[in-house]
Amino acid sequence: MGDLYRFGISLDRELIEAFDRHIAAQQYKSRSEAIRDLIREELLQKTRSEGGTVAGAIVMTYDHHKRELVNRLLDIQHDFHDIIISTQHVHLDHGNCLEVIAVKGNAPEVDRLSTALKVLVGVKHLSLSVSSAD
Ligand code: NI
Repeated sequence: MGDLYRFGISLDRELIEAFDRHIAAQQYKSRSEAIRDLIREELLQKTRSEGGTVAGAIVMTYDHHKRELVNRLLDIQHDFHDIIISTQHVHLDHGNCLEVIAVKGNAPEVDRLSTALKVLVGVKHLSLSVSSAD
């Protein structure tokens, strides 16, 4: 973190009371940390919408027995090799696999990879979580 900068904010009492209840429920220790997270989230959304660089993970489960699915998953990952940092594969049980794909790249490309995998028949669940890359 760089130098700390302090500033005051004027808010309606109802708004700050609702915010305080909300952040207390989330176990925030201070308003400052909660507001920092809100600002980071807002800036991340800006980065995503402007096609900037993000880092993240795709977490997916799929049916190991689905014909051609495993080959298709590998083909797609090779197509996106430039944004995939690593892939971890876990054999959950006899028929189900879990894969965690770490990615870093421009936001639309990361979204394209996520969507290309998500729509395949046999993929049971997929979630994409992204963070700022810097
Ligand atoms: Ni497996």
